[in-house]
Amino acid sequence: MLSPKDYIEKNKDAFLNELIELLKIPSVSADPAFKDDVNAAAKVVKKSLLAAGCDTAEVCETPGLPIVYGEKIIDPKLPTVLVYGHYDVQPPDPIDLWTSPPFEPVIKKTDIHPEGAIFARGACDDKGQMFMHVKALQYMTETDNLPCNVKFMIEGEEEVGSVSLEWFLERNQDKLENDVILISDTGMISKDTPSITTGLRGLSYVEVEVTGPNRDLHSGLYGGAVANPINILNKMIASLQDEDNRITVPGFYDKVEELSKEERQKMAEAPFDLDEYKEHIGIPDVRGEKAYSTLERASIRPTLDVNGIWGGYIGEGAKTVIASKAYAKISMRLVPNHNWEEITELFKKHFESIAPAGVTVEVKPHHGGQAYVTPIDGIEYKAADLAFKDTFGKDAIPLRSGGSIPIVSLFEGYLKSKTILMGFGLNSDAIHSPNEHFGVWNFLKGIETIPYFYKHFTDLKTKS
Ligand code: BES
Ligand code: MN
Ligand code: MN
Repeated sequence: MLSPKDYIEKNKDAFLNELIELLKIPSVSADPAFKDDVNAAAKVVKKSLLAAGCDTAEVCETPGLPIVYGEKIIDPKLPTVLVYGHYDVQPPDPIDLWTSPPFEPVIKKTDIHPEGAIFARGACDDKGQMFMHVKALQYMTETDNLPCNVKFMIEGEEEVGSVSLEWFLERNQDKLENDVILISDTGMISKDTPSITTGLRGLSYVEVEVTGPNRDLHSGLYGGAVANPINILNKMIASLQDEDNRITVPGFYDKVEELSKEERQKMAEAPFDLDEYKEHIGIPDVRGEKAYSTLERASIRPTLDVNGIWGGYIGEGAKTVIASKAYAKISMRLVPNHNWEEITELFKKHFESIAPAGVTVEVKPHHGGQAYVTPIDGIEYKAADLAFKDTFGKDAIPLRSGGSIPIVSLFEGYLKSKTILMGFGLNSDAIHSPNEHFGVWNFLKGIETIPYFYKHFTDLKTKS
């Protein structure tokens, strides 16, 4: 019988070429100008599911962008794995900084990926990782190795808050019934250290608008006498963190889960090299909340960051002007027990309260989601760990991630099953950044590992 490894060896060029075709479609969910491309990508995903052996696959319309659903039910009495992923991608900006165009995928060698990596927006997040599951299914159906039922739910709004997915969950609870949800949309520690993501941070995303005079003013005629919204906005933002880099929004830390000494000790044992970390992202030093390590700051602690700020004149040369308005987009990463809607409210109240006389401030909530933690003593985790052991020869390290997949916490509520996050990306893959890429080795290793998860999960589930 053909092993996943042998099957992949025979088919890898075809797999890569198919992924490259999908990566050529600029399915940017944030920008309505790409709506047709988003729809086109959904169709390609549907076709690939049918080609991989799904009995049915459909592009399901929603109030927003479509969700692709597919399934193969071999025996209703057997367990069912629900695969979740997303085919939408982040905007490619700033395009100038890409060494090859974001939607013209090319395979290039890098230090970390001497076998080559596919450079394209979405290569790792999440088209490449989602596609591993499609190809793993193809292996299992073509070689008669599918041990259980499988359902796929691939959405097109993950990068903009998964608003329609909740709508879809509400209406399709029966259809989506499953025993475990499997997702590859996170990372692993390194190519020889597999890890299972056991936590995701929550998110509250807001936009703020500071308004001063009713029009842009001459900064000579009026400067010094009226509040400058840009100056004020920066001052307000600067006040949101104190000298210990703690967030000053009243109540922000009230519900933050404090990890036990043992848990923190365990985290500190994960392989991590601070010098390498600094070198990779080109910073002279790290900075963050006092009394926490870099790994902790980037996973178990909450944050507040400005993602973009604008206003006034930014064209060529100089223009002397006091802008009427200034804006910023602010995200807060949240941790278990935080309620994102409550944090959004706390932020709004505080930010409006610190506005000085002379300006008005408006806070517009965007989207958000709860944090998530998975237990490591269930059969779901065990199956993933065994699968990594089969293909990497060692146990996976459980690790909480700093990223967010807001829908994951909702899955448990709607679908009553646990989620397992088996990521194959690396931090250096530059997701959301220029020159995003995904190692060919990682892509193929994912396809190889996934069938083992199915096998172990089915074994453990049918025994239990
Ligand atoms: N796949 C990422 C999240 C991720 C990446 C989690 C790596 C853990 C490790 C996902 O596509 C993403 O980017 N999520 C957004 C949130 C969303 C609401 C825009 C994020 O984390 O910023
Ligand atoms: Mn993603
Ligand atoms: Mn993303």
